[in-house]
Amino acid sequence: MHYRTYILKNFGDERGGLIPFEMDHNAPFEVRRAFYIFDTKPDTLRGAHANRASQFVMVAVAGSCTVHIDNGRGEKSSVTLDRPDLALWLDKMIWKKMVDFSPGAILLVLSNEKYDETEYVRNYEEYVAIRRCE
Ligand code: TYD
Repeated sequence: MHYRTYILKNFGDERGGLIPFEMDHNAPFEVRRAFYIFDTKPDTLRGAHANRASQFVMVAVAGSCTVHIDNGRGEKSSVTLDRPDLALWLDKMIWKKMVDFSPGAILLVLSNEKYDETEYVRNYEEYVAIRRCE
C-alpha cells in the first residue's frame, strides 16, 4: 500500500481542539521537516512531483483540499482532506498533486526527510520510467 488515511485523536474540550503528532504513536516516521501551504490562489496546483526518499503526512488543519495520488504503475486515487483530524500518509516515490484548495485552507505537511531538491523527481515521464525499472 502506497498511501493510507487515518483519524487523529482529538484531545479537544470546551476550549477547542487539540491534536498532537507523536512518534511511535500517530506519526509513522521520525519527523525531520514540517511545512504548511496557505494563502493559495484559486485554481492553485501544488506538488506534481515524486520524492525518492521523503514520505509525507498531510493534514488540512483548516479548510480542505484534494490530493491526487499516482503510483506510476497505473494505480491512481484521490483523497479529499476536509477535517483537521484526517491524516494522509504517502510513501516515498508517489506522484502527488494537491488541488481544489478551499479559501483559507492550510495544509500541514510532515516529512521524514529534510528538504533536498536532488531527491525530487519533477518530470512525470522520468518518474514513470524510474518506477518501471524498480
Ligand atoms: P515546491 O516543491 O514547488 O512546493 P510544492 O511541493 O508545494 O509544490 O517548493 C517551492 C519552493 O519552496 C522551492 O523553491 C523549494 C522550497 N522548499 C523548501 O525550501 N523546503 C521545503 O520543505 C519545501 C517543500 C519547499
